[in-house]
Amino acid sequence: MIVRPRVRGFICTTAHPVGCAKHVEEQIDFVKKQPQADGPKKVLVVGASTGYGLASRIVASFSFGADTFGVYFEKPAAGGRTATAGWYNTAAFEKAAREAGYYAKGINGDAFSHEVKAQTIERIKKDWGKVDLVVYSLAAPKRVHPDTGELFSSVIKPIGAPFTNKTVHFQTGKISDITIQPATEEEIRHTVAVMGGEDWEMWIQALAEAGVLADHAQTVAYSYIGPEVTHSIYRTGTIGRAKDHLEATARKLDQYLNEKVNGKAFVSVNKALVTQSSAAIPVVPLYISLLYKEMKERGIHEDWIQQMYRLFVQTLYTGNEVPVDEQHRIRMDDLEMREDVQQAIQENWSKLNSENIEELADLEGYRHDFLRLFGFDLEGVDYEQDVEVDVPIE
Ligand code: NAI
Repeated sequence: MIVRPRVRGFICTTAHPVGCAKHVEEQIDFVKKQPQADGPKKVLVVGASTGYGLASRIVASFSFGADTFGVYFEKPAAGGRTATAGWYNTAAFEKAAREAGYYAKGINGDAFSHEVKAQTIERIKKDWGKVDLVVYSLAAPKRVHPDTGELFSSVIKPIGAPFTNKTVHFQTGKISDITIQPATEEEIRHTVAVMGGEDWEMWIQALAEAGVLADHAQTVAYSYIGPEVTHSIYRTGTIGRAKDHLEATARKLDQYLNEKVNGKAFVSVNKALVTQSSAAIPVVPLYISLLYKEMKERGIHEDWIQQMYRLFVQTLYTGNEVPVDEQHRIRMDDLEMREDVQQAIQENWSKLNSENIEELADLEGYRHDFLRLFGFDLEGVDYEQDVEVDVPIE
């Protein structure tokens, strides 16, 4: 099949198997060029198939030489449709890891369920005995509560008052004003249930109670803060409430793990990057394209893999005390939040319109990164070639 990007609004409904494999290979190559490091040897990644979770998994194997187990929720190819990008990424990663001599297996299923947790634990017991590091990198729109069966749907809305700001249609570059009405209490509760820390805590408790956490085991989940201009829609909005909950859970789990296995729990506040889900949040794509411009101009732009290399190799596993802010968070967003970067963005924000956007913002970079998520726009891939879309995960 010849696979082309099929972009509908903010969604791309196709993925390119060869391009996704190339995207994974590029990230592996970046890590291989860095010196190998000492670190955890058995790593469980929940949300392992795309974005920060995939990059965490790549660093674990190719920097630390770790065996990895991934949990993800992806679709294989079927009925003339391609698989999802995360499916192809996983197939490519696991093949490369095994060829390099590392264990790489996983489960495609609902991480929120008791069943997937139990199956993962069973696998760990059989194959490894214990786990040294648990990376929690889920980003999901919905969650079925495993005890009550209640279906939660997350929303991205401000809290307390409507929010109006500029937004961009990133395909056309057209800037317009958007107003989003505030969330109801019920919507806030749902969003916290999906993207807060309850499920992370369930994972860690289940692993601890099953006795599969190694002495000094650590866990890390990912959060975001961002600038003033996106606060109403992000950090002080519904998703921010969920992140507050996730961060509070980290502090709770830190104590829990300390008591159980001399372990530690962290939240890492990461840099904003283009994702399928952030593309759908108003205002955020515009901010990200301004951010990319400023960071690239200063030579401090980082992608998934650079962020995760810096987090694991240069921050979490250095043998020294892990630097955290006053709320016990690791700040990998330090370069994004640098004053000169944020000031430049703020100045450009007020001047922005549909005519000057390509000049003030890196919209081209945004579109390029969006396509790369699905395996398109990668150098060295022949997109005219007929490719096999039915790729197995061994
Ligand atoms: P992503 O969408 O690329 O990856 C999400 C992962 O979760 C995928 O592996 C997917 O298969 C898996 N997943 C989703 N629902 C699942 C389910 N029910 N069961 C099992 N697996 C499931 O997300 P991304 O962007 O890497 O985000 C990961 C974390 O990092 C999130 O907590 C996000 O808020 C945070 N973060 C993201 C930033 C960004 O700019 N993308 C910035 C800072 C933090």
